[in-house]
Amino acid sequence: MKRVLVTGGAGFIGRALVARLLELGHRVVVVDDYSNSSPESLDEVRGHAGLEAIVVGDLKDPVILKRVFDAPYDLVFHLAASIRVQDSIDDPRTTFDNDVTLTFNVLEACRQQYFAANGVEVGAPFHLDEVAPRLLDRRPRLVFTSTCMVYDRAFGAALIEESHPTRPASPYGASKIAAENLVLSYGHSYGLSVAVARPFNTYGPFQKSNLEGGVVSIFLANALAGRALNVKGDGTQTRDLLYVDDCARFLAMLGLSTAFEADGLVVNAATGVDVSIAALAGIIAGADVPVAFVAHDHPQAEIQKLCGSNAKAERLLGFVPEVNLADGLKRTRAFLASRV
Ligand SMILES: NC(=O)c1ccc[n+]([C@@H]2O[C@H](COP(=O)([O-])OP(=O)(O)OC[C@H]3O[C@@H](n4cnc5c(N)ncnc54)[C@H](O)[C@@H]3O)[C@@H](O)[C@H]2O)c1
Repeated sequence: MKRVLVTGGAGFIGRALVARLLELGHRVVVVDDYSNSSPESLDEVRGHAGLEAIVVGDLKDPVILKRVFDAPYDLVFHLAASIRVQDSIDDPRTTFDNDVTLTFNVLEACRQQYFAANGVEVGAPFHLDEVAPRLLDRRPRLVFTSTCMVYDRAFGAALIEESHPTRPASPYGASKIAAENLVLSYGHSYGLSVAVARPFNTYGPFQKSNLEGGVVSIFLANALAGRALNVKGDGTQTRDLLYVDDCARFLAMLGLSTAFEADGLVVNAATGVDVSIAALAGIIAGADVPVAFVAHDHPQAEIQKLCGSNAKAERLLGFVPEVNLADGLKRTRAFLASRV
């Protein structure tokens, strides 16, 4: 049993991850400021014996950070972030603060906790070689949740592998690459056990279905309400859609696996199958509602093709997505219908 922290644990993916970790018998602390979620997203796990604490607050606040890192963790999943591409274009500073500065805060808190637990003085000249045996003895692992939006554009039928070049199309992608690099540097500089997860577009229950939500939830909510589905641009842009429980299962496997050292590991979570947004709209609309094509808000930040290779995750972790698109859409539709 491990003591695990999930930042952003009330969020869409975070809540599924928390549920998975509790199911596996771990002791979980959640921190979230509810800036993009609400307390009710944790209702299903509230009261669970393994849920040690839900800390409500902004991790950029030193008081909250101190409260969260009160005692050592074996494993930290860092998911808290500003996640909207559009927001990052309209207000890049907020995304930078929540995605880069906040990641730095979490890394620093992990380092200080890890040094203190191993009798290494924080602030003294540090030589990894000299202290390595002590530090390597009990290393916490940090899994950083990055995104497929860090990748450069891809063309043709080839799946995007982790070696594909990165080139951010938005301040969101740029902030994630910056944060990834900070995370990797803490692995190299201090010997923290770090891994970077790059999930492709994740969908499912609890994702927001208003304009701030994911495309699947927005389309499904509109279809249920009898409204037309608005496809931005010409709809030829594609997405590799990963069901949220698969994403959570992948993150848990990455964090908990003892089959490999996480040191600097960067790994996709993807299905390897993409669907165009026009085709997705057609599937969801059926004969019930019309599909309209509307101008894109930020065409410059659109990524035309996103289809990931899952080969590395399968080879290292044995991770294979279990929920196909038809099933995932059915489950998400049922969830949204139950809340109308
Ligand atoms: N949803 C996707 O398709 C997808 C795909 C790839 C990667 N990701 C990444 O996965 C992570 C989770 O994404 P999600 O879709 O669940 O988003 P989400 O917005 O639902 O979850 C993020 C959570 O972090 C919280 N949060 C934000 N800033 C905070 C702060 N300063 N202090 C404390 N809490 C804060 C929010 O309230 C929210 O509950 C993010 O890092 C995101 O970039 C998401």
